Amino acid sequence: MPHFFHLDGVLHAESTPLSRIAEEFGTPTYVYSKAALLENFDAFADACAGRDALVCYAMKANSNLAILDLLARRGAGFDIVSGGELLRVIAAGGDPAKVIFSGVGKTVDEMRLALSHDILCFNVESIPELHRLNEVAGAMGKQARVSLRVNPNVDARTHPYIATGLKANKFGVAFDDALATYRTAAALPHLTPVGIDCHIGSQLLDDAPLLEALDKLIELVDALGAEGIVLEHLDMGGGIGINYGAEGDAAPVAVADYLARVFARIDAWRAASHGGAPLKVIFEPGRAIVGDTGVLLTTVEFLKPGAEKNFCIVDAAMNDLMRPALYQAWMDVQQVRAGSAPALSYDVVGPVCESGDWLARERSLSVEQGDLLAIMQAGAYGFTMSSNYNTRGRAAEVMVDGETVHLVRRREAPAELFALESMLK
Ligand code: LLP
Repeated sequence: MPHFFHLDGVLHAESTPLSRIAEEFGTPTYVYSKAALLENFDAFADACAGRDALVCYAMKANSNLAILDLLARRGAGFDIVSGGELLRVIAAGGDPAKVIFSGVGKTVDEMRLALSHDILCFNVESIPELHRLNEVAGAMGKQARVSLRVNPNVDARTHPYIATGLKANKFGVAFDDALATYRTAAALPHLTPVGIDCHIGSQLLDDAPLLEALDKLIELVDALGAEGIVLEHLDMGGGIGINYGAEGDAAPVAVADYLARVFARIDAWRAASHGGAPLKVIFEPGRAIVGDTGVLLTTVEFLKPGAEKNFCIVDAAMNDLMRPALYQAWMDVQQVRAGSAPALSYDVVGPVCESGDWLARERSLSVEQGDLLAIMQAGAYGFTMSSNYNTRGRAAEVMVDGETVHLVRRREAPAELFALESMLK
């Protein structure tokens, strides 16, 4: 069900007109729909019902505490990539026993922190990382539960910046080296290999590459079992894409269909391997949980007609939403109210001093100064990737629940942006 829609000529989030939010909280502001968030999470949870499975939300997509709290209450685990993200999980009341720790560069301090909270698993990406983790765990008198991120070398067919499962990527252990790397892990006294994982890329619309990766992981689970290394779980990573609304875009695979196909393969494997040890399945979705639950609300500051292009200069910028500048990502732009001005083709740009500072290009808009626009499907990798470039305070974030609007992060004040700095004494 759409949770952002036009009603009486005004774009709403649930039962709340976005114009009301702009009046009350100003712009730029990220607006999230609670109902959309829960609906997206439930699509995963429902498809996992009755199965030994865990959904570990990849919180890098959006780590606002309100979102983490709602998901934690729904039973979510979390996929983290830093000590800071673990502290957020704890602050939001999440359960560290449902946390998996991904990333190629975990520091000693981050390992210590995660071990002290007894997280579910470290998703290890290299042999030096295994050795470091073994040492840190040994010094703490702990046993670290590890999974190896295996690089299955399948082509995820997505943007090169967000494809991660190819040989040329920095991520994971090469498929051909995986067995030997597991043997190393199993031989280290303070590590216990418990899982296997992969993550082949993001914004995948088709699940065929994911299922191809699954087949390769299952092959390894069997080979490891034959050597007496019996794993508890298999982690499919994240990657399911969303519909950004560009003309001609293919629809993403339905979450329920993808998960059903994963479980069917796991069942077939268990039947064929004579009922071998049970294998929990973990998913690490980010974008599919939050992508379409948020919009970035912004105000038109000026219209600037040009010789070759017309510019619609808004108060949000690349520091608020980097995806267009960084990946040439296409984001849908909607007018909060239909305008009466003649429709013209505009590039929607921000006030930052770079030509790369654009949010959308060549969009037909009938806007006037002071109008409100919403950049749609901005809930994932929006606020979390924002910065203070040009000494711009980061946007406010609100969450709508029906007619109620909760401020879940207040706007940063300019003085806060340099409060940590000092001049030479
Ligand atoms: N697990 C791992 C190990 C990951 O690296 C990622 C995302 C995920 C899970 C979640 O993937 P998702 O379900 O969201 O596709 N900033 C980019 C996307 C970067 C994705 C990085 N890794 C963007 O805005 O498109």
